[in-house]
Amino acid sequence: MLCRIMCVLVAVLGGCAKKEVPVIPEEIAGSCRYENRFSRKFECRDYHGDWTEEQIRQDCDSWGGEVTIGQACNLEQVLGYCIWEQEGRYIRASLPGNDPGACGSTLRGCEFFGRGAFDPAPICGGVDPDQDRGGGLVVFQQPVRRCQDPLPGEPPGRSPGGQVCTWEMISGATEPGRRFADYASCDRVRTQRPYYPVPTAPGADRPDERLQDPEYAQELAWVRSQIESTACVCCHSSSAPRGPSNWYLDAPGNFINGFFDRGIAMGAGWIDTSGLGAYPPEENNGFSRATPDNPHHTIFVTTDDARMRRFFVREAERRGLRQEMFAGMRYVFGPIDEQRLFRPSACTRGEGVTPDGRIVWRGGRARYLYVLEEGAASPTVPPNLDLPAGTIWRIDVPPEGEPWASGTVRYGQVPAGGRQRFPLSGPPAPLVSGRRYYLYVTADILQPVTRCLMVAP
Ligand code: HEC
Repeated sequence: MLCRIMCVLVAVLGGCAKKEVPVIPEEIAGSCRYENRFSRKFECRDYHGDWTEEQIRQDCDSWGGEVTIGQACNLEQVLGYCIWEQEGRYIRASLPGNDPGACGSTLRGCEFFGRGAFDPAPICGGVDPDQDRGGGLVVFQQPVRRCQDPLPGEPPGRSPGGQVCTWEMISGATEPGRRFADYASCDRVRTQRPYYPVPTAPGADRPDERLQDPEYAQELAWVRSQIESTACVCCHSSSAPRGPSNWYLDAPGNFINGFFDRGIAMGAGWIDTSGLGAYPPEENNGFSRATPDNPHHTIFVTTDDARMRRFFVREAERRGLRQEMFAGMRYVFGPIDEQRLFRPSACTRGEGVTPDGRIVWRGGRARYLYVLEEGAASPTVPPNLDLPAGTIWRIDVPPEGEPWASGTVRYGQVPAGGRQRFPLSGPPAPLVSGRRYYLYVTADILQPVTRCLMVAP
């Protein structure tokens, strides 16, 4: 899929540095109208340069869009364009809109999520993301643990009062033998990672003689029942509102045939998926997942990692795959790992704490604000990677709250409507004058706007 290739090829943004907008060939081979998976807004992309019709159709299909060969998008009201280059061929997506308040989020959607270069239209000319009202992308909903009585006919749950408790989170699982969808809201889960439909691997519904092999069928049924208990079903089953994301549990035939090879390698634990986040099994009904200490756990959330990996290694071997083929593969989940491994450098654009305690950042309004020790890791996703050791202060805006503007938050004072996540109670440790601290501010989870080392006044 083109997007996947480009995600690797396009140079990665450092900090909030503006990307060069490339000069693109004028001729347009065709265009594609589609709904953007991330912003859920209508968009249209022009294919500039040496594209074949086949290549255009392939790219457009991957977005579930509609192709027009030989014609440009020509939209009337656009905020700007997002541009990608691949081997001398260019895609220029028109980002429709007429609200200058959406310029900042459109820029971030293009550059942080899409890894493109943003070329503003006059309405967003000289984009000032500090004016941004944060519209556009879906707001990440923090996980909650939901407890309820078991469904009629099911045995009592393991929690007090016989209840069944389930984290509403991508890495969450309900009790083994139960269905996640019966005990948690998938709507919340679908805000925690971009959800969009993706076709299965070709020929996924072919007849598979292994289904007649009782030993194989038994393992397959176990794998399916494990996944059925986890939040993966929210996007990987036919109940996903706009269709399943690639492989899906209730696919006709053998659902394993819907995976691309890389998905199988993730199942086998051949690719490090610890960046996706994990609960300890004792808080997750016995289900574990890859963690920085155990990066070669299968990508699946399971009560038996060894058994799950064995199943997928067998599948990989049958497909002729070898572990070396996936060595060092990491950036498979867009910005997740790249952000976790990000090392900040000194603040250069006036970011930091003013002598009267106001926190100044750049890049637009914020939902999450951290002050960390200089050497702390960069925070990313809950539940285990969003509060790194060395966090001194962390405050959040709840999903329904209004994000903060730069300069309106004072160190140690939680703004009205905000929530302090660290320390659990009381004010944070005072900053020591002259010492360096890591200022980490995001528009939302995985959308950093300022990440740099400031010196306390
Ligand atoms: C909020 C939606 C969502 C949830 C929840 C979700 N996924 Fe996915 N998953 C996706 C999307 C979208 C893709 C397709 C990515 C692409 O190809 O662009 C995907 C792709 C995959 C792939 C294939 C990757 C590849 O490169 O072939 C695997 C494996 C996978 N998911 C595993 C999981 C597991 C395991 C869980 C549960 C722990 C899970 N997913 C939960 C949305 C989701």
